[in-house]
Amino acid sequence: MKNLMKKYYLVSALLSSTLLLACGGSDNNPGVDAGGDNGNQVSAELAVAGTAAVDAARIIHADTEPGNWLSHGRTYDEQRYSPLDHITEKNVAQLGLSWSFDFPTNRGMEATPLVIDGVMYVSTSWSMVFAFDALSGKELWSYNPEVPKSKLIQLCCDAVNRGVAAWNGKIYVGTLDGRLVALDAKDGSIKWSVQTTPEAEAYSITGAPRIINGKVIIGNGGAELDVRGFVSAYDAETGKLDWRFYTVPGDPSKPFENPVLEKAAATWTGEWWKMGGGGTVWDSMAYDPELGLLYIGVGNGAPWNRQIRSPGGGDNLFLSSIVALKVDTGEYVWHYQTTPGETWDYTATQHMILADIEIDGAVRKVLMQAPKNGFFYVLDRATGELISAKKYAMATWASHVDMETGRPVEAPGARYDAGEPAIVYPSSQGGHNWHPMSYSPDTGLVYIPAHKSLAVYANNPDYSYIKNFFNTGIDWSKATLPDDPAERAGVFSQFTGFITAWDPVAQKEVWNVPHTTLWNGGMLSTAGNLLFQGNADGEFVAYRATSGEDLWRFDAQTGIVAAPITYTVGDKQYVAVVAGWGGAMVAFGELASRAKGSVNRSRLLVFELGADGSLPEPVPFDRGIPEPPELTAGVETIQRGDDIYHKRCFICHGEGAIAAISSLPDLRYMDAKAHQLFKPIVMGGLYSSNGMVSFSGILSNEDADDIHAYLISRGHELLKKMENQKVSNE
Ligand code: HEC
Repeated sequence: MKNLMKKYYLVSALLSSTLLLACGGSDNNPGVDAGGDNGNQVSAELAVAGTAAVDAARIIHADTEPGNWLSHGRTYDEQRYSPLDHITEKNVAQLGLSWSFDFPTNRGMEATPLVIDGVMYVSTSWSMVFAFDALSGKELWSYNPEVPKSKLIQLCCDAVNRGVAAWNGKIYVGTLDGRLVALDAKDGSIKWSVQTTPEAEAYSITGAPRIINGKVIIGNGGAELDVRGFVSAYDAETGKLDWRFYTVPGDPSKPFENPVLEKAAATWTGEWWKMGGGGTVWDSMAYDPELGLLYIGVGNGAPWNRQIRSPGGGDNLFLSSIVALKVDTGEYVWHYQTTPGETWDYTATQHMILADIEIDGAVRKVLMQAPKNGFFYVLDRATGELISAKKYAMATWASHVDMETGRPVEAPGARYDAGEPAIVYPSSQGGHNWHPMSYSPDTGLVYIPAHKSLAVYANNPDYSYIKNFFNTGIDWSKATLPDDPAERAGVFSQFTGFITAWDPVAQKEVWNVPHTTLWNGGMLSTAGNLLFQGNADGEFVAYRATSGEDLWRFDAQTGIVAAPITYTVGDKQYVAVVAGWGGAMVAFGELASRAKGSVNRSRLLVFELGADGSLPEPVPFDRGIPEPPELTAGVETIQRGDDIYHKRCFICHGEGAIAAISSLPDLRYMDAKAHQLFKPIVMGGLYSSNGMVSFSGILSNEDADDIHAYLISRGHELLKKMENQKVSNE
């Protein structure tokens, strides 16, 4: 297969320039052989060159060309439902692998690919972009923005990217270090690039741009690292800034950027602006062309803990809100705040779906969201009026939403501001996170990739702010997991994942499919009465959309978190998904690594009926034997090291120093050399070019020694476990 691909590459490289001129980038090339069982045939006619001739009319009328996937959620209403019906509940059992591609990264993969006129565009972790012939899988070009690996320390949730946008011959990507880059769809060369965020601050971009009427709309992330959220619109042709909307008020001694921020400032107390305030627009957006409204989902507060962020209380607008803006000017129109005075990392950045549905005898233009806080909201998208809100997942922080006030009724103590920690469902992973949902107009159901999860929230009385560093204001030492295996298993049983097929009119679950663990893939529903989802166990599955019955499974060898798409080339329907587990769950060590797909391969998988392609043999993964030096430190030192580790290191190396995915070093397995070089690595920045930066600015030598003592003890514990297992195996 490799040789064939190489040969094909040479042929098409020679021909691509002529073909470009000849077919003018229109639809599928005439003469394309859509047949064949695995799409790997050597055929010069297959060479397509992307022109990405996308404009407003094409996206607005996307249903007239269901074979393409032109924008992030397929349509501006972001329903992620495809009218394609060649693959159906009746024939899906014959689905097989058409082609696959292994990306040169093995971190988390969260992107939704685009397919435009036979060319697929997909982004990867580290904000790289690849273009493929969507039929054969031939790589047409790739782009690497060369984000410095040291950026890793300024990310909350892995080096992920959730997708690109296309407009008038260009492909747009937001990079981890805050650039918005326009690439020539034909060859991936840079047309323009702008820095959208202040470089001295810990902003990052992981979300997909949306393009509306020639404006590229892009948000950013970084609320864990104390930034001030905003969303911007850039001219798609020139990269010039058109408008910017800040989601939280800045320093009130300076002029407010707009009158609505002055009003918002009345909902804040203390000196919030010194720690940014948060409210980043890091993922979800939707657009209604008739109303001219852009909807943005706004994130959590910075720091998470409201006692520190806004000590006199207050709703802290527009944190955890859905905000409607005029797309032409960025002017505020309405907002709905899901979690007033948020203090649990309950973002409202989750996927928003627009639909016209009948409620109480009238067709309503609604916006639907299942944000982290566990409630499913149905809003009138013209006015922001709350139509209904019900719990779709386990949520104990509030009993219900009061329909008179539109506000949640909080459970006593959930706010952990009276000195006592609070055990609350859901955790910061949410009842649902960024993983896209899907709404099928055929079944009338919203398919939510949901979670059950709990967290212990406790105020950190010794909190001190460190710029550009993880600042939650939470005392995580209250949240570490018990060592006793039975107790540990008991806690783990409170973390599960499931699909809930949700009736948004009745506000109730119609069916439910449980998963083995949380953090599974996004959703795709189709007119073939199908629902596709990958999962943390490394399988890609097709379900019957009406019942949840399991119809087809594929072993992807690696966990899946991204959402699938479907498209056609010629008259053949394909289903595609990127595999590769990662994202925020990598910090959850053993809990996360319960997913059997935790040996990571970042890979694009494309399926068609009747294909029988296979994946390369999985490479066995072995971390070797730990080589900890003799343990000389006392219990207190180890405990101190444990505490500091869980403040400074666990976000990348995992709870309990257990790495969730194969691409991260598991510090229990350090060899003699790593132990010897521990100080130069941790304090001297020896590996900073690979993302392990120096911590000398925030750790003392004693701190580093104590962390080392903790890791040595973890190494010995692991060795002992390995020896016991060996004995019991014999
Ligand atoms: C932002 C992510 C991040 C954080 C936070 C982080 N590390 Fe790392 N660390 C890495 C990466 C990535 C590597 C792998 C570097 C390489 O392969 O060269 C690494 C490697 C290491 C290694 C080398 C392991 C080996 O087997 O060679 C040590 C030791 C280490 N880290 C210790 C720490 C300690 C101690 C902390 C907390 C003070 C910490 N790290 C925090 C990302 C991180």
